[in-house]
Amino acid sequence: MTQPFLPFTRPTIDEETIAAVADVLRSGWITSGPKVQAFEATLSDYCGGRTVRAFNSGTATLEVALRLAEVSRGDTPITTPLTWVATANVILEVGAMPVFVDVDPRTRNIDLDRLDAAIRPSTKAIIPVDLAGLPVDRKRLYEIANRHDVRVIEDAAQSIGATSHGKTIGSIGDFVSFSFHANKNITTTEGGALVLPDDIDPKLCERLRLQGVQRFPDGGMDVDVLGGKFNLTDVAAAIGLGQLKRLAEFTARRRHLARLYFERMPQNLGLELPPADFENSNWHMFQPLLPRGTDRGVFIAAMKDRGIGVGVHYPALHLFSLYRQFGFKEGDFPVAEDIGRRIVTLPLFPSMTDSDVDRVCDALIACLGNPINERVPRRVGFMDGEIEVPDDFDQISAFPPEGGN
Ligand SMILES: Cc1ncc(COP(=O)(O)O)c(C=O)c1O
Repeated sequence: MTQPFLPFTRPTIDEETIAAVADVLRSGWITSGPKVQAFEATLSDYCGGRTVRAFNSGTATLEVALRLAEVSRGDTPITTPLTWVATANVILEVGAMPVFVDVDPRTRNIDLDRLDAAIRPSTKAIIPVDLAGLPVDRKRLYEIANRHDVRVIEDAAQSIGATSHGKTIGSIGDFVSFSFHANKNITTTEGGALVLPDDIDPKLCERLRLQGVQRFPDGGMDVDVLGGKFNLTDVAAAIGLGQLKRLAEFTARRRHLARLYFERMPQNLGLELPPADFENSNWHMFQPLLPRGTDRGVFIAAMKDRGIGVGVHYPALHLFSLYRQFGFKEGDFPVAEDIGRRIVTLPLFPSMTDSDVDRVCDALIACLGNPINERVPRRVGFMDGEIEVPDDFDQISAFPPEGGN
């Protein structure tokens, strides 16, 4: 019997949550109301009592955070080029221009060793991203940000449930932005939440969330600031409440599956694995880098033929046409570009079984273990001795598959 298609991710929504959604739908109050307030309160508990406001997307939370941090025209906030394009788009949206800092080849997150030198008077804010749920080191990050007196807007869209130095992401720091998009570790179908620092007025955040409207007890209203239409619905919040209850369980399951990948992954495929971090990362995604020279499109199609879904998160965003218009070009951020060309997302989600990991590994062997794609060992036997194979040497054609004579 053929097995069902294994997607790279799939949300886990339980029957209790589905019933809670049905209750909201029957209640007569389906947009922002008591469920949103309950969701915000539960998130606030999770974040150690910090103030949290819910939004209809993680993009909206970032944009409002930038407005609250007073980032606008003339400012050049710093972020990573290896992220979902939303992180940079919101910078343009508020009239500012992103400055990218290349990523650390190991963590694939913004390279903290390069951050210091990139900060200028117009920086005003740093927007780090915890790619795949592996957090940027918060101690080092805030040490740098505080030294330069710049704000931090943590794009933690992918890292709810993760930790840094023993602290839950969201429980410390300046602004922290979560996404609850369908692919995230917990979802509201679409949605987001912003953790606010103490110096920010939550009422202003609420006005920026909904048309700038301020209501008075006598039924009157005023609009003193331009707000968006970014409110979460009670239908979505009911899902979020059901998901939050299971966050710890989901994270534990994801860590277990990631560990299995490390244990069961064939060693000779030339894949570069992410850091084996089972303490801090929430394993939002499991992302090896393909051997250089592998045709990613062919690989994805071959995996699909074997019933395995593979994603790409993400190509380096400064090479998108929109960003090239601002002068960004190939070679600006070589580490991000290299990773962005080779990265693939393999299936990892809580309801995946242990044996699904074997299915993925078997498919990887079938797709990468053949002579055409087989990675050449760095040193191979040749004639009577050994020769060094350059790092960028991708073709097997010059040597027999085993690297022998
Ligand atoms: C790193 C990052 N930032 C921002 C976002 C935007 O979140 P949303 O899709 O909820 O608007 C996402 C979502 O994929 C993301 O992964």
